[in-house]
Amino acid sequence: MAATTLSDTIPTDDARPRVVLGVSGGIAAYKACTLLRILTETGHDVRVVPTRAALEFVGAPTWAALSGHPVSASTWDDVHEVPHVRLGQRADLVVVAPATADLLARAAHGLADDLLTNVLLTARCPVLLAPAMHTEMWQHPATQANVALLRSRGVVVLDPASGRLTGADTGPGRLPEPEAIAAAAVRLLARGGADVGDLAGLRVVVSAGGTREPLDPVRYLGNRSSGKQGFALAGAAAARGAHVRLVAANTVLPLPGGVEVTAVGTALELRTAMLAAAGDADVVVMAAAVADFRPAQVAEHKIKKTDDPDDTPVVRLVRNPDILAELVAGRRPGQVVVGFAAETGDESADVLTHARRKLARKGCDLLVVNDVSGGQVFGQEHNAVTVLDAAGGAVPVPLSTKEAVADAVWDAVRHRLDTGAADDDAADGDVDVM
Ligand code: PMT
Repeated sequence: MAATTLSDTIPTDDARPRVVLGVSGGIAAYKACTLLRILTETGHDVRVVPTRAALEFVGAPTWAALSGHPVSASTWDDVHEVPHVRLGQRADLVVVAPATADLLARAAHGLADDLLTNVLLTARCPVLLAPAMHTEMWQHPATQANVALLRSRGVVVLDPASGRLTGADTGPGRLPEPEAIAAAAVRLLARGGADVGDLAGLRVVVSAGGTREPLDPVRYLGNRSSGKQGFALAGAAAARGAHVRLVAANTVLPLPGGVEVTAVGTALELRTAMLAAAGDADVVVMAAAVADFRPAQVAEHKIKKTDDPDDTPVVRLVRNPDILAELVAGRRPGQVVVGFAAETGDESADVLTHARRKLARKGCDLLVVNDVSGGQVFGQEHNAVTVLDAAGGAVPVPLSTKEAVADAVWDAVRHRLDTGAADDDAADGDVDVM
């Protein structure tokens, strides 16, 4: 019986999305095994194309067993089937994780000296690169220039995560978690590459989660935001090519790939982080649920219950600053500021009427309105919103995943940036703080 060749297993009648998973030679290659597992288990047909250096870290049998396809790093296997062209041509998505400095350089300059770089030249589908390397290599002007060149061509290059690297050192350069890369990949497939790189070059800041205002070392006043909507916004922006900073208040979600994260607890901490990050941002999105009030005093020790049943402590509250209003007041020319509104209708007006008033008071460019009557939305996987703009426009987004809502919000932001409306509205900086 003839041996199975690389091209024998290129599916022709398989409806599963075809993903080429490129793996280049970094220690994080082992994490690509988990990524491969996630992609195959979520219904993708994955072909692994390692570089020769990647095979020093994880052997071909591992990739073959996990993907169910033969594996080669070379253009010289099964030449009659021209896999160096067919793999790229037939792919619905190419993901490279980890993408080393060397792979980024070869991809940026169109080299084709192994199977993976050939695939990158022949693919016409979306391409997602997840870099991983030491901080010095990532920050080197050569690497940054290569990344900029790739992004300018519509390639989605995630920013690496920050944290522990191979040795004792820490810093930016870690491969984003496989779950986060898979989420970015699935998103690119779902959108068909229509928005690939449409936010490239933009610096965006997103807040997510809910603030907690301490009463004593044990207790706090909080809210029910999980951070899912904000994380989806950050992940979608990164997948569309933006440089994303996420300010996360009290979240326990896996971090989206390619996003710089600042963890905060209280509204005042969130304010400090947002004002600092907004300074050079093109877009600021306030998806966090911020406490309007905080206890005037935080007890140094746990507030004790006494034996007297009438002894019930009274908590005096003071107002927190309105961060969104401060961001609007201090925004730089052309910066787009997006607010969220968790609204409920009442006897005086419906949700959208309340939201329009809030948009006018807060002075932001866009306001994303959720109807949170009955506690819906918080912690859920789905959301239905209306995106209001300062000129009176309203775009309803029907019940969808929070990822799809995030994309609709970025579509609105993109439109806002393209039409230059942000400049017009920035001229009237009149803000009424709620
Ligand atoms: O995190 P999830 O579980 O996914 O839930 C998502 C969400 C419902 C939390 C999110 O979609 C949302 O609506 N976030 C904003 C909630 C909110 O605080 O709404 P608000 O109407 O109270 O505030 C309006 C805007 O002002 C918001 O952009 C808020 O971030 C901002 N704000 C509010 C108070 C304050 N002191 N400072 C602020 O900047």
